[in-house]
Amino acid sequence: MKLTGTLELLDHLEKADVLDPAATWLRKAARATVRPQWLRDALHGVPFGHPLHPVAAQVPVGAWTSAAVLDLVPGAERASAILVGTGLAAAAPAVISGATDLSELHEQQQRVGVVHASANAAATCLYALSLAQRLRGKHVSGKLLGYAGFGVATAGAFLGGHLAYHQAAGANHAEEVPHRTPPGWHSIGRLEEFTDGKPQQVMLDTVPLFVLRQGDEVQVLADACSHLAGPLHEGKISRQQVSGRAEDCVQCPWHGSTFSLRTGEVVTGPASAGQPVFQSRVVDGVVEARLPGAG
Ligand code: FES
Repeated sequence: MKLTGTLELLDHLEKADVLDPAATWLRKAARATVRPQWLRDALHGVPFGHPLHPVAAQVPVGAWTSAAVLDLVPGAERASAILVGTGLAAAAPAVISGATDLSELHEQQQRVGVVHASANAAATCLYALSLAQRLRGKHVSGKLLGYAGFGVATAGAFLGGHLAYHQAAGANHAEEVPHRTPPGWHSIGRLEEFTDGKPQQVMLDTVPLFVLRQGDEVQVLADACSHLAGPLHEGKISRQQVSGRAEDCVQCPWHGSTFSLRTGEVVTGPASAGQPVFQSRVVDGVVEARLPGAG
């Protein structure tokens, strides 16, 4: 594919392995700072079924954008300073949730993420200086520093958009499964072809399935992990507590997201979206699967 202009620049950024030491440092720092699994899950957005970072970033971005508008209005210095301070106070959750997400991404995503985070850190520093000047009554330099921060934050937001929409970081990688799966029941193999207790991958048209035989029963899920499409059939099966009851779960081999085999719900992140679960049955020795809502 021929790349032009900005996209070519971003392509270079994704391939810039000179950023890898910084990405490694950030990844280790995030993992060392946020240790409890429940807290990591909350910062990934597991309890909400949606990444937390874009929501957490709304407050500083909104407050600083509003301050940029008010800085053009004569006599609005006090209100503008309050908005700049509000953005600074709200930056911490955005920073921590973003760093936690970044620690579980592909290396190309992490390189863009490092520059995105650096731009936002620089913008935060500029806004802190801006607030300091405003509090000292130096509103002209406070406004100029604010606009500098706004410009840098906008560049950071552009990179965040590239991460989310072009590199699909934070996107649900299982979303298309119901659209690509034909409706109704489908044969996926004879029961004796599946080794008891060992997950296997089976293709249903173009959709890879995770298939686990347990005696005469068969569990079927979409095989591509909702986090970044890791192969769940290469994952580990274990018994976990899910909503107060012990259930068989699969742990993704790439970043460790764990899903209930019964419901597909996320037990631990970084995935925040559940895994599509197929109904299954055995008819005359043939395993059949069906995805409710497919087509
Ligand atoms: S691909 Fe990241 S946890 Fe599965």
